Amino acid sequence: MENKIKLLSEQIERFVIEGKDSLENFRIQFLGSKNVLKDLFIEIKNVPAENRKSVGQLINALKNKAQDKFDIANSKTEEAEETNSNIDLSLSGDFNKLGSRHPLSIVNQQIIEIFSKIGFNVSEGPEVEDDWHNFTALNMQEEHPARDMQDTFFIEKNPDWLLRTHTSSVQVRVMEGAELPIRTITPGRVYRNEAISARAHCFFHQVEGVYIDKKVSFADLRQTIEYFAKEMFGESAKIRLRPSYFPFTEPSAEVDVSCSLCSTKGCNVCKYTGWLEILGCGMIDPNVLKNAGIDPEEYSGFAFGMGIERMAMLKYEVKDLRMWSENDVRFLDQFKSAW
Ligand code: DAH
Repeated sequence: MENKIKLLSEQIERFVIEGKDSLENFRIQFLGSKNVLKDLFIEIKNVPAENRKSVGQLINALKNKAQDKFDIANSKTEEAEETNSNIDLSLSGDFNKLGSRHPLSIVNQQIIEIFSKIGFNVSEGPEVEDDWHNFTALNMQEEHPARDMQDTFFIEKNPDWLLRTHTSSVQVRVMEGAELPIRTITPGRVYRNEAISARAHCFFHQVEGVYIDKKVSFADLRQTIEYFAKEMFGESAKIRLRPSYFPFTEPSAEVDVSCSLCSTKGCNVCKYTGWLEILGCGMIDPNVLKNAGIDPEEYSGFAFGMGIERMAMLKYEVKDLRMWSENDVRFLDQFKSAW
């Protein structure tokens, strides 16, 4: 009896089911009304009583084995039939559209990578900011005229809250309670209450940089900016610093990079000056350090701030600021190979 079961089990295993006909043959042979397993159930009478239980179990296992093999083959055959009948091989292919990174993300990422190579990490701060971090701690007290340079969106519910007008607000946040030295850049979105045009927008993006340690000097600042300009605009890029004014730095400067399009000869991109303005910077005002709890007698530092849209405009020669946020796929598609 056991031998018979073993033989049938092997038969089931070896049975090749390919397509509907062989599936039906299998079914008739092992599962149909006159299937070969039925004889076993009849013959079980002749098995000695003490073995009957275990032999019964073997026969049941055999039956299940046949049923499982049938079920699997059956669903495979159905699947194959379905796909065969639904495919129209004459149809042309339907390609998925490939997305691309937004050009501002590409430039942002480049800036992060450039500064990370010289030890700057990345920090972030809130877009809804309080007056202290956006203005007062940065040496712009309530009546300070410099506040007018940045038209502000205030939050109606609480006049102390506003949408940050620059990422310099994060400067103060990273300084507060931080372990020194600090070497960080903070990319982020900023807001200004301006009418939208080709040259102005109510929101844009900036990257702020801060380096604070003992004996940080203006020469360190200059070297850092020069390194950045060369990495961003190519080895031949030159920089020049013009004296400027920002309430939170002293001395302050604005930095121009040589126009790579005309090699400083003058063209319409650099408005025939040979130079393009890229950022503002300076040595952090001792008052600002004090406001954040850092002793200006012991520590000094520099800070800089640049617009990501501006950097992307210079890199890709896009003249209309609105292009960056309209998300026109025809525009964005052109940056597919940029990264
Ligand atoms: N916060 C300035 C702005 O939005 C940019 C800036 C200038 C940042 C000089 C700085 C700096 O850190 O030192 O126009």
